[in-house]
Amino acid sequence: MNADDQKQAAGAAAAALVEPGMKVGLGTGSTAVWFVRALAERRLERLRCVPTSEATAALARELGLPLAELDAVGTLDLTVDGADEVGPGLALIKGAGGALLREKLVWEASARCVCIADASKRVLRLGAFTLPVEVVPFGAKSTVNRICDVLSEFEIGALPRLRSREGVPVRTDGGNLLYDVACGRIDDPAALGAALKSLTGVVEHGLFLDLADEALIATDAGVERLTP
Ligand code: A5P
Repeated sequence: MNADDQKQAAGAAAAALVEPGMKVGLGTGSTAVWFVRALAERRLERLRCVPTSEATAALARELGLPLAELDAVGTLDLTVDGADEVGPGLALIKGAGGALLREKLVWEASARCVCIADASKRVLRLGAFTLPVEVVPFGAKSTVNRICDVLSEFEIGALPRLRSREGVPVRTDGGNLLYDVACGRIDDPAALGAALKSLTGVVEHGLFLDLADEALIATDAGVERLTP
């Protein structure tokens, strides 16, 4: 099985958890795409789906899934989403797709959050994958200087790199900038996350801690279910 086959298997396993009438959060990224496709194939009645990005909204619309605003549904029964790293206790790094803010809002509104991933995403310690930090454009350089101060407190020497495509800074769905930090290792994710979040210009970061209720990790031997 290659990684894409594994993503498909994890997506299908998660789609099987959805029941008619549920309010469902739809994640973003290449693994979440498989979940959205598998969910649409089930043709369940009375679903209300809240997408975590414009990209997922477009796919769900194309597949005929009924969409709703988060504020219109209030709370969700289940959210299914991918991750960049799945660490001990189901601590996650997310946000390579740039949707971390909407993802976190939807996860926090969900009674049950299921992370889906291929086997390569499992790690013993977070930080090998870059950590995204979403920053408001106004005064972004000042905010980045303050992020660097926080990183050095945590003995992380990496400089935040502005995410850009073809030389143009990437903007999130909320119009903000993304800075990626190659931490290398994150020894205390909770403390680092809290310190980053305390900075005024930081909107959100990609550490998802104490949010995932379970993870469905697809391996060549099948889909493994992990709990914190
Ligand atoms: C989107 O912003 C991300 O949080 C994705 O869910 C995460 O990057 C995993 O993406 P893949 O499933 O494409 O690896």
